[in-house]
Amino acid sequence: MCGIVGYVGGRACLPVLLDGLRRLEYRGYDSAGVAVFQDGRLALARAEGKLDRLQAKLAGTELLIGTTGIGHTRWATHGVPSEDNAHPHLDCSGTLAVAHNGIIENYLSLKKGLLARGHRFRSETDTEVVPHLLEEEYDGSLETAVHRVAGRLRGSFALAVASVREPSVIVAARQGSPLVVGLGDGENYLASDIPAILSLTRNTFILDDGEVAVLTPSEVRIQDRGRRPVAKTVFTVPWDPQHAERGGYPHFMLKEIHEQPRALADTLAGRLGPGDTVNLDELPIDAEGARSLSRVFMTACGTACNASLVGKYLLERWARLPAEIDVASEFRYRDPVMRPGDLAILVSQSGETADTLEALREWRRRGARTLAVTNVMGSSISREADTVIYTRAGPEIAVASTKAYITQLLVLTLLALKLGELRGCLTKPELAGYRDGLASLPRLAGEVLEASAPLAAVAQSWEQWDDVFFIGRGLDYAVALEGQLKLKELSYIHAEAYPAGELKHGTLALIVPGIPVIALATQRGLQEKMASNIAEVKARGARVIGIVLAGDEEEEFARHLDELITIPRVDSLLTPILSVLPLQLLAYHAAAARGCDVDKPRNLAKSVTVE
Ligand code: G6P
Repeated sequence: MCGIVGYVGGRACLPVLLDGLRRLEYRGYDSAGVAVFQDGRLALARAEGKLDRLQAKLAGTELLIGTTGIGHTRWATHGVPSEDNAHPHLDCSGTLAVAHNGIIENYLSLKKGLLARGHRFRSETDTEVVPHLLEEEYDGSLETAVHRVAGRLRGSFALAVASVREPSVIVAARQGSPLVVGLGDGENYLASDIPAILSLTRNTFILDDGEVAVLTPSEVRIQDRGRRPVAKTVFTVPWDPQHAERGGYPHFMLKEIHEQPRALADTLAGRLGPGDTVNLDELPIDAEGARSLSRVFMTACGTACNASLVGKYLLERWARLPAEIDVASEFRYRDPVMRPGDLAILVSQSGETADTLEALREWRRRGARTLAVTNVMGSSISREADTVIYTRAGPEIAVASTKAYITQLLVLTLLALKLGELRGCLTKPELAGYRDGLASLPRLAGEVLEASAPLAAVAQSWEQWDDVFFIGRGLDYAVALEGQLKLKELSYIHAEAYPAGELKHGTLALIVPGIPVIALATQRGLQEKMASNIAEVKARGARVIGIVLAGDEEEEFARHLDELITIPRVDSLLTPILSVLPLQLLAYHAAAARGCDVDKPRNLAKSVTVE
């Protein structure tokens, strides 16, 4: 996720900006830049790649000795990683600079208007509309201009703005993306996260949505959306710098688990139109093109492969498209039969996994149309696929994937709905129902996480067990696969997921008294069958932890459960995005209880770029 740093005060700000940006490196980025007031003008330096590249550019220049400035590390979402797309972005006159974190959903319509009014754009970013809008709105007060422009933006943003016309001022605005103000002595700081300024001060204000802050060396003034002054309470940061990088969480994984409602909201941004169904602008396909598709082949590794299985069910269900799944390392060494009308979908968080990349190349050699679902703009897979849909999870630091997985589920759900719509397989009321269900997911995911405290004790009770089983049917089985992967990679407990109906063909022999079995039973029409499977393992003494929809607690199957975990009621086809959350947390707590290195499990890597 992008990082913002700002400084107003009495010393040269460049070292402060660069140090702050370094402390935000853990968030991941692909380019960086600074804008500093210098001799009555705004000096700008930007570079693709790591901060060292930016620093090398700055070395030897006497340039940046100014005392007001903003800096940014960019994680590409709109426009490839490049110097032109790096922030800060300027207005036409080059006197006003903006750094932005988040996504401006209505940037295309704003940009159209700005172009028509003669503004010149130099980047492909959504952000660049902001300096141009500010240029139009400025009539003597940067604060007023920022209020006006913030009111015209849809989506999420944290903004840092500086203008030559007010050289000792930074104006900041927050809507949905975090922003922190730090209080110093004769100087003040701005950052998208506390670690960036923790070496300078522990006294901070956390900005709330709708607030605009004006920072000068001697004061910080805050107004709400209605321009009423806001008296903020100073938050004194109790964490050490390392802890602060993790937002106060003991591990990145737990932080990332709790970022999932935000990641879902970001991934949905602009993709659910009012009255419309799904907007997937990236998908260059019309109804005729969608109807000409005959089959889908999904290829991925690890967690991305588990997400693909959910995609397969939904593509078949909603778009009536036969879908096959291959683990990428297997696909490469078989000889699939490809026909015209086949679409290959490659799912990869990093966009760099060697086997998935080679699978993409193999599909292309065979003449298939290729579509990538990835989290990293500019990655190899994103560059080589015909079409890319981004997941917008932000950088994921923990090796075990959580927010990337859940946003893969969401993108595949959107894709299946869109293809279902284009192929005429879904009625308007059905589409509207699913769209409303999707819109509620960020909120419902937040509710699941808020109610998750009891899961720690459940996971801790597995201490003596070397094996845990996961069972489910349909989409619940797909989620069970992800649950078992999380548990084994993090806690080193052996875990297996089975389609519940398969138990009696072998695995039932392993069920002994007390052994934990996690039974997912969220799928309408399959609950009676699950009740029988739960009874089968109960009869052998298993300790059964059930994941059911709220309201199903009284059902026959729920009475046989030793532990009951409920998730909010949504359509069965949307449940994976909620039902996986408790499984992630169970794996996390089981690993933490065993003293495992949660963020870096033994023998595993985040990005596997070798075969
Ligand atoms: C590694 C990671 C997993 C990930 C898999 C595929 O095994 O540890 O978290 O699911 O690679 O990675 P990708 O970047 O292609 O999704």
